[in-house]
Amino acid sequence: MPTGISLPEIGYEQAEPQSYEVSPCAFVLFGATGDLTRRKIVPALFRLKLQGLLPDPFVIVAFARRDKNDDSFRAESREAVRAFAPHLPVDGAEWDEFASHIYYLRSTLDDSEGYDRLSNRLTELDAQYKIPGSRVFYLATPPENFSEIIHHLGEAGLNRPGSEEGWARLVVEKPFGYDLASAKALNAELKTYFSEDQIYRIDHYLGKETVQNILVLRFANQIFEPLWNGRYIDNVQITVAETLGVEGRGNYFEQSGITRDMVQNHAMQVMTLIAMEPPVALNADAIRDEKVKVLKSIRPFTPEDVAKWTVRGQYGAGLQEFGESREEVTGYRQEEGVDPRSDTETFAAFRFSIENWRWAGVPFYVQAGKRLPRRVTEVQIQFKAIPDILFARQNWSAIQPNRLVIRIQPDEGAYMEITSKAPGAQFKAQPVRMDFRYGASFDTPISDAYERLIYDTVRGDASLFARDDEVETAWALISPILSAPNYAAGTWGPEAANRLLTGKAAWHIPE
Ligand code: BG6
Repeated sequence: MPTGISLPEIGYEQAEPQSYEVSPCAFVLFGATGDLTRRKIVPALFRLKLQGLLPDPFVIVAFARRDKNDDSFRAESREAVRAFAPHLPVDGAEWDEFASHIYYLRSTLDDSEGYDRLSNRLTELDAQYKIPGSRVFYLATPPENFSEIIHHLGEAGLNRPGSEEGWARLVVEKPFGYDLASAKALNAELKTYFSEDQIYRIDHYLGKETVQNILVLRFANQIFEPLWNGRYIDNVQITVAETLGVEGRGNYFEQSGITRDMVQNHAMQVMTLIAMEPPVALNADAIRDEKVKVLKSIRPFTPEDVAKWTVRGQYGAGLQEFGESREEVTGYRQEEGVDPRSDTETFAAFRFSIENWRWAGVPFYVQAGKRLPRRVTEVQIQFKAIPDILFARQNWSAIQPNRLVIRIQPDEGAYMEITSKAPGAQFKAQPVRMDFRYGASFDTPISDAYERLIYDTVRGDASLFARDDEVETAWALISPILSAPNYAAGTWGPEAANRLLTGKAAWHIPE
């Protein structure tokens, strides 16, 4: 602070960035024999270990139903890392040391005696490794198991740390609820045993380097913030596209659809980071307060808005490009686990209006879909066109509005499209790009989202996790879209019917 200036004593605490440190703990994994554990969690934990980012001591307790023991689970974990993170050294002393701290506890999820055994085992491990009773409980199970695990953890007293110096944290995987009512019910269940600051709701998009970079790009560069509003920005587009179909997850997807799977969480999280005001500090609550304000400023969808500002679709059979190759793929209704008459949407496009001073009049377009031509997640900030003077008189029709494109994946980075004079004796304008690529600017490879998120749960930094009000507000916005009727009784049918008529034509309203 400059000399001579002091803050007035006005009786409130100044928001400070918190400091988060890793301290010895146990990491208890529910759903330990599942796909997520093998593909993401175990490789992420081992990578953290290799970087020296895990506390010492650190033990993992895998809690699952199948008949395994410490040795067989350690061997399977090694194979999982070999398969899903093949560049990691699983044949050396580092793996052996890491694996020697993995334990397997066999129990079904509904057996209270299993949770008592877990509690005893954790107390033993605390004593053996001198851990102060600190625990992360990670729910990597299907959502239908969440409530019974929470209940049993609470009843076994595992919602509290093993000692006064310790802490207990609960990590909940997505999907968090199915609509507003179920998300509220799940939050209420969690709160029966855990307080909000113990709960870490995962949205793995927030762990992506490029998603975190949105805050840095916006608030660590003076050049963007003055332009970041409806005076200079025409519209914002967020695209979350995948080439994959539902990949054997037909059963799950039938219940979810793309809106629940990718829009309510991933795309809306990206939208809040693009639209939020600068937080008062870089701590979990200050950041999440600003994100919630954005969600609360979004104009709720009425049934008429749903008809006008949303589009949903479903993929049929087609020819899909995967890099260099092209493959015939089946339609959604032919996928395993999918009802042949299913109406579930695999594509959705929405227009959101954020009704606050910064964004009034700037549409936020969001589209997400499976089996689209490329796997790409990008945000495009489209600036307004320059005034129609000066260059317009020179017939410079080629002047395009500036665009800032944030490439979330793949080819992580961002580019700014500006207009430049093309070389030559004539005066011709052409759009050119100022391009930043992570791959070219940094030697370090982009880390996996799970690595960052697990690291943060161990450090106790909840900034990249969704808070209760954030999840509920996002559901409150999305639920009316999911349940909206297509047209109200007593009206002349869906709004979309008007799009059939061209020119000045309008539907004849019979008398
Ligand atoms: C998951 C969805 O949350 O995100 C999947 O359930 C989707 O359907 C996946 O494929 C996409 O994640 P990423 O990190 O590959 O973009």
